[in-house]
Amino acid sequence: MSSESQRAKHVAIIMDGNGRWAKRKLLPRAMGHQRGVEAVRELVRNCGDLGLECLTLYAFSSENWKRDEQEVDDLMNLMRKFIKSDLQEFIDNKVRLKIIGDWQGLAPDIVEMLEDALAKTSAGDHTIAVALNYGSQGEIARAAAKAATMGEVTTESIGLHLDTADLPPLDLLIRTSGEVRLSNFLLWQSAYAEMLFVDTLWPDFTVEHLQEALDNFAGRERRFGGR
Ligand code: FPP
Repeated sequence: MSSESQRAKHVAIIMDGNGRWAKRKLLPRAMGHQRGVEAVRELVRNCGDLGLECLTLYAFSSENWKRDEQEVDDLMNLMRKFIKSDLQEFIDNKVRLKIIGDWQGLAPDIVEMLEDALAKTSAGDHTIAVALNYGSQGEIARAAAKAATMGEVTTESIGLHLDTADLPPLDLLIRTSGEVRLSNFLLWQSAYAEMLFVDTLWPDFTVEHLQEALDNFAGRERRFGGR
């Protein structure tokens, strides 16, 4: 079924449903996020074998600061723990880490850890892009402002200044948990991406679910506005 042109190279995921997963199991929300990290880890381990050049994950939006302080702290601590525990595995598996969003606005110790992780994984041959303090409208505004300082503002010049400029075009955007919206994620990049909304809550999302999504993508007809 899948021809070369229909193989997804770049998949992005809105990882939604951690809270509901925890609630259904009568567990604290933090446990949902913790299990969410485990789902991330499994995909990071397998995305090379799935033939992906890039997997982009929405981990913390610029609007997530509105959540209560404890939850924001929990998410930041999970981030710290994840970088510490998994960095070596990234290096061993030749995974290049990339961060998109206004990540320099995170706590200084996290910024430092990320800078170290980016440097140590820069030789990787496939990419995990993590969106941190990310909002697509802000990203587009920043890119347009940069394009304006360089000359003409065109779709090409904006594209060249997006955080994702060095990534392959987005093929498939997946959102878990049954919600059907983009929540300020990769709005520009989604112009011709295929969309897939699945009911699975993020902590239950496995490599098999991702493979199913890739099979689904492989069977779609893409026209990019042509016929
Ligand atoms: C949405 O679920 C999920 C988030 C806001 C955070 C996503 C973060 C992770 C999966 C873990 C951190 C990732 C890394 C890379 C360390 P929700 O809490 O909105 O769920 P709900 O809608 O069911 O309440």
